[in-house]
Amino acid sequence: MKKLLSLLLAVAMVATMLTGCGAGGSANKVGVSMPTKSLQRWNQDGENMKKLLEAAGYTVDLQYADNIVETQVSQIENMINSGCKVLVIAAVEGDSLGTVLAQAKEKNIPVIAYDRLIMNSDAVSYYATFDNYMVGTKQGQYIEQELGLASGAGPFNIELITGDPGDNNARFFFGGAMDVLQKYIDNGQLVVKSGQVDFDTVATQSWSTENAQNRFDAIISANYADGTKLDAVLASNDSTAMGVTNSLEANYAGNHDNWPIITGQDCDIANVKNMIAGKQAMSIFKDTRTLAAKTVEMVDALMKGGEAPVNDKETYDNGTGIIPSYLCEPVFADVNNYKELLIDSGYYTADQLQ
Ligand code: BGC
Repeated sequence: MKKLLSLLLAVAMVATMLTGCGAGGSANKVGVSMPTKSLQRWNQDGENMKKLLEAAGYTVDLQYADNIVETQVSQIENMINSGCKVLVIAAVEGDSLGTVLAQAKEKNIPVIAYDRLIMNSDAVSYYATFDNYMVGTKQGQYIEQELGLASGAGPFNIELITGDPGDNNARFFFGGAMDVLQKYIDNGQLVVKSGQVDFDTVATQSWSTENAQNRFDAIISANYADGTKLDAVLASNDSTAMGVTNSLEANYAGNHDNWPIITGQDCDIANVKNMIAGKQAMSIFKDTRTLAAKTVEMVDALMKGGEAPVNDKETYDNGTGIIPSYLCEPVFADVNNYKELLIDSGYYTADQLQ
């Protein structure tokens, strides 16, 4: 009897090791695939979701793909083969998951695209994100207001920088902002001295700070080295804003007079510190706790055989049709409201921003 018990125990332990699951087994396992650990927000997203899913009684296989498509594909493949019942995925590249997700569909595993829409795959069941177009609109409106464009002020010099061309969000951010700013470029209140205005030219591979900095080094030396004032930079997120700031630090030799208005997104700690120091004007605050909680609600509904809650059934077509979405609302943060938004809400401690 004792032998039988230890045999059973050994079998159970091996099974647990193979499925990567704890006490819950794979029957309630959720796969969470995040793009990279290199950006603060994805660490928060992943951790928040894991915590909430575990509190709701699920086991979680949380993986980060190091921004490498092949790594993400093989991590998702493992999740499918080890019995995950729902997949939550923030894609490294929106267009590269079709083949692996066909396997999920075959096994009736629902897929929730997280933050970034997964393109051209009919395996995507839902999309949970912030209103990406609104993110861009708010960035554009911030520049419009700070420069007094609506009351005719100008001309001002502006430069533009957005994100990875393989991330569907980048087009929404840029499109939202340009829907506010384009008319001022057209009437001459805003001047883009570099002449770089179309999406592909102002895109930043992998949203990389270094790529952003290199592009700005070239823009500044070609257009602003003679002391011409750069008044504003539309940057779609904090990692690209950081590249712009680094470039200005180097090119302006630490002289902060004439510093442009720089937008951003995510409220990463380093960028909030720049905001406090007057080196970045604003960032969009997307409370990852809200998005994670909403996504967990969606997972829970699917696990119980129901439908996930959505609030948008018209905006996001991934090439195979409209994906029912839940859009959370982004807000802008700047030096005037960051304490209330970020510290009072418990998102960061005051110490973290010192
Ligand atoms: C996210 C942004 C993030 C960017 C770079 C986008 O898809 O929506 O919040 O800054 O990716 O990781």
